[in-house]
Amino acid sequence: MSNIKIAIASDHAGFSLKEELVLFLTGKGLTPGNFGAFSAESADYPIYAKKLCINIQNCEFDCGILVCGTGLGMSIAANKFKGIRCALCSEPVSAVLAKQHNNANVLALGARIIGADMAKAIVGAWLGAEFSGARHEIRLRMISGFEGGGE
Ligand code: RB5
Repeated sequence: MSNIKIAIASDHAGFSLKEELVLFLTGKGLTPGNFGAFSAESADYPIYAKKLCINIQNCEFDCGILVCGTGLGMSIAANKFKGIRCALCSEPVSAVLAKQHNNANVLALGARIIGADMAKAIVGAWLGAEFSGARHEIRLRMISGFEGGGE
């Protein structure tokens, strides 16, 4: 796990949890790329979703975590980016399946929905899981076909 290049970003609502997750990831031997926000001052979540997703698209990072109040805005924004498969999770079972079945390369979390311990459990579960491939690969290719407005 320690060679995964992971990025993390938040808006103001997710700032505090994001900082806790930076420490959590560092404790796991990772060096997360922190794309802000860097304070709890009001900030627009799409700006931070964009920064993180572009860095994943450019292969600067393998995967990312986005934190806002509910996780909803971040996940909606992230899923507009080609090649990004963002899963909003509030418990670890979904996080494992988001990797196994959906190969989610971005995890969205809601800082106003879950606590820090739950967020860490979700992140740990997601990072520890592996994509199952096979039939799921075929389905993800179908989804990729929708990018750019496919049928
Ligand atoms: C900010 O107040 C809030 O709207 C944002 O953090 C997020 O929950 C949006 O989906």
